[in-house]
Amino acid sequence: MRANCFAGRNSVEVRDVPDPSLLSRRDAIVRVTSTAVCGSDLHLVDGYVPSMQDGDVLGHEFMGEVVEVGSGISGDTLRVGDRVVVPFPIACGSCNACAAEMYSCCENSNPNAAIAEKMFGHPVAGIFGYSHLTGGYAGGQAEYVRVPFADVGPLKIESDLTDEQVLFLSDILPTGWMGAEMCDIRSSDVVAVWGAGPVGQFAMDSARVLGAHEVIAIDREPYRLEMAAAAGHTTINFDDTDVRTRLLELTGGRGPDKCIDAVGLEATHGSASLQTYDRVKQAVRSETDRPHALRQAILSCRSGGTVSVIGVYGGFIDKFPAGAWMNRSLTLRTGQAHVHRYLEPLLRRIEAGELDPTRVITHRLSLEEAPHAFDIFKNKQENCEKVVLTP
Ligand SMILES: NC(=O)c1ccc[n+]([C@@H]2O[C@H](COP(=O)([O-])OP(=O)(O)OC[C@H]3O[C@@H](n4cnc5c(N)ncnc54)[C@H](O)[C@@H]3O)[C@@H](O)[C@H]2O)c1
Ligand SMILES: [Zn+2]
Ligand SMILES: [Zn+2]
Repeated sequence: MRANCFAGRNSVEVRDVPDPSLLSRRDAIVRVTSTAVCGSDLHLVDGYVPSMQDGDVLGHEFMGEVVEVGSGISGDTLRVGDRVVVPFPIACGSCNACAAEMYSCCENSNPNAAIAEKMFGHPVAGIFGYSHLTGGYAGGQAEYVRVPFADVGPLKIESDLTDEQVLFLSDILPTGWMGAEMCDIRSSDVVAVWGAGPVGQFAMDSARVLGAHEVIAIDREPYRLEMAAAAGHTTINFDDTDVRTRLLELTGGRGPDKCIDAVGLEATHGSASLQTYDRVKQAVRSETDRPHALRQAILSCRSGGTVSVIGVYGGFIDKFPAGAWMNRSLTLRTGQAHVHRYLEPLLRRIEAGELDPTRVITHRLSLEEAPHAFDIFKNKQENCEKVVLTP
C-alpha cells in the first residue's frame, strides 16, 4: 500500500510499504477514506519529539471503513463494512487509567512503555504514527491501518454526515474541547487562546459553546486571525501588539480569567533575546522545548485563573514562571486529549449544528501530495490552516 513516511528530519515521502495485518484478537484493519495533517506531526518531522525512525508511517487523524476484524471482536461492537472515526490515543479500555477515562494515559497500549517511563517518569498510551516513544504504531496517512483494541476506540458513524464533518473527532475537535473544558468556564469569563491553528480555533469555538463571555485569539498569521475573527472571536497579532498589555486593556487590568496554550513546544517569540535564548538552548539539547506562549499565558492570566495547556510539550523547559503560578493561585491543567470521552457528546453537537468542524479546512489533497501538504502547513503558505488528505 501507499503511506506517508518519515524520511529524516524535515522530510516526508509517500512510499510503498507492506499492508498491515491483524496481529491480535482485538485488532481491526481500517481502509482509510480521509486523513489529516496535524501540528503534532510537525513536532515529529521537525525532530523535536525523539525516537522517529526512517520509514515510520505518520498520521494520527484518520477515519474509514472496517475491512477486517479480529476473532476477539464481537459483531455487536464492530463489523466489516462499518464506517468509523478512530481516536488518536490507543486505549485498552480496562486498565486503571482507562477506567478513570484518562485514555491518553492507558497503561496497556504502549509496547515501548520503558522508553516513555524514562522520558516522562511514567509511561503514556500508544499513539498512531507518533514515534517509538508512544509505541511505534504505523499511522493513518496511509491506505490501510491496523487498529489495536478496536472494540474500544473506533466511533461508528451511522448517519450521513460527511467525512469532513466527523474526521476531526479523531483528535483536534476533542483536543480543543478538552482545552476549554479544563477551564471550567463561567458566563463572565474572558478566555484567551494562544495559537490560531486548527486546535486553537476549536478551543475558541468550544469556549464559546461552553458559555464564555469573550474569546480572544492570539497569533501572528493574519489569515489565521481572520479565520478566528470570522467565527466571532476577538484577535491580537503578537507581531504588532504587546500581548500582555493588550490583554490587560481588554480585561479591566486583571488579565483573562482563563488562558489556553494551543501552541506548544515550537512557539515563536515576540522578544528577540528570549527567542535566541531558547533556540540556542534547544540546539545544544539543554532545553527541548520553546515554551514562550506558555510563559506568556501564565504571566497574563488573572490571579486565581486557570491556564489550560493543550499545545504539546516533549521534554524540558527553561524560565518557567513558577513564582507567578504559585503566588497568584493559578491552576495549571493539561493532557494529551482523552479523545474517547468526547466522541459521542461531540458527535451530537456536530449533528445539532453547534460546532462546525469543516470551517478550518483550507486544502483537500491526495495522499500522494502529503509532502506538499506538510510544506504549506508548516510554512503557512497558501493560507493553509488544515489539510485533509484522501488516499
Ligand atoms: N493535547 C493534545 O491532545 C493535542 C492534540 C493535537 C494537537 N496538539 C498540539 O496543539 C498545538 C497546536 O496544533 P495545531 O495543529 O493547531 O498547530 P499549528 O502549528 O497549526 O498552530 C500553532 C499556531 O501557534 C502560533 N504561534 C506560534 N507561536 C506563538 C506565540 N508565541 N503566541 C501565539 N501563537 C503562536 C502559530 O503561528 C500557529 O498558527 C500543537 O502543539 C499540537 O502538537 C495537542
Ligand atoms: Zn493531531
Ligand atoms: Zn488502558
